[in-house]
Amino acid sequence: MKTEPLLSVRNLTTTFPGRRRAAPIRAVDGVGFDIAAGETLGLVGESGCGKSTTGRTIVRLLEPSAGSVVYDGRDIAHLSQRELKPLRKDLQMVFQDPHSSLNPRQTVARIISDPLLVHGSSASEARARAAELMDLVGLIPEHLDRYPHEFSGGQAQRIGIARALATGPRLVVADEPVSALDVSVQAQIVNLMERLQRELGLAYLFIAHDLSVVKRVCDRVAVMYLGRIVEIGDRTSVYEAPAHPYTQALLSAVPLPDPAAERTRERITLHGDPPSPASPPPGCPFHPRCPKAQSICHTDPPPLRTTTPDTPHQAACHFPETP
Ligand SMILES: Nc1ncnc2c1ncn2[C@@H]1O[C@H](COP(=O)(O)OP(=O)(O)O)[C@@H](O)[C@H]1O
Ligand code: SF4
Ligand SMILES: [Mg+2]
Repeated sequence: MKTEPLLSVRNLTTTFPGRRRAAPIRAVDGVGFDIAAGETLGLVGESGCGKSTTGRTIVRLLEPSAGSVVYDGRDIAHLSQRELKPLRKDLQMVFQDPHSSLNPRQTVARIISDPLLVHGSSASEARARAAELMDLVGLIPEHLDRYPHEFSGGQAQRIGIARALATGPRLVVADEPVSALDVSVQAQIVNLMERLQRELGLAYLFIAHDLSVVKRVCDRVAVMYLGRIVEIGDRTSVYEAPAHPYTQALLSAVPLPDPAAERTRERITLHGDPPSPASPPPGCPFHPRCPKAQSICHTDPPPLRTTTPDTPHQAACHFPETP
């Protein structure tokens, strides 16, 4: 029997009102994917493509204008804040900039304990749990009474992770959790997140703007462009045989570890910036930048279709690359 996914997102659409009389911004435009318990889905794409809005809508920091977010069998897309409260324990978020996501005037003890106090723990229970969480994320429990500015960026992100884990979530949306950190620290935080996943059975939606960061951690990967998913599939399948020209371009920008391969690496340069989600181009949203565009691409939006029958891999392109 096939088990139900932990999270099942369908046709998710999140719109922001346009400025003055401008058209509304469809930041997320009909996105769908599943995440199984204990699994990591990587979500990648250039800045502004709608990754954060997708993550924030799933944990219901934002309300979608359409679509469903089925968590553990229940659609939470339109629940009221009161109905959401018990679910907040289960769905947590780690933010990009650790320092700006931690209140500078609160001690670490307070920052980590707050979600526990909200869910009914006593002050002493919450403090004891905060000390355990410090230890779990590799910080010194005795530093509980320090303030965020006393920690480095990597340590501050560990605090952000401890806060997210306080209530024992099953799904963590990590929104570019290492993008703001020094490269040397990035690997440590990624290692920590992998260890926590193994120990706690967490599922992650791991957001990154570049495919190299999620390569190690994800089981599957989804590529976003202008509010839509243009390619999604198993990690190996997408990295080894990308079907969509946009994914190919993103992958061609990733340096290769082997120096010989790196010297001959073919780079596909994308010209121009992504169009505004307030006025997406007709047809395929990628056509103004696509080196393979044909006339059908200017008029007909390509649906997300299976590209290789033997692996779960889909791309939204009229002329996908097939292995
Ligand atoms: N609160 C907001 N109000 C208006 N537009 C927004 C808001 N947040 C994001 N946007 C717009 O929505 C689009 C997607 O943004 P975002 O989800 O932050 O992208 P990403 O995380 O991939 O960089 C962008 O065009 C951005 O300008
Ligand atoms: S549908 Fe056409 S424009 Fe869009 S990615 Fe495929 S080839 Fe390029
Ligand atoms: Mg973002």
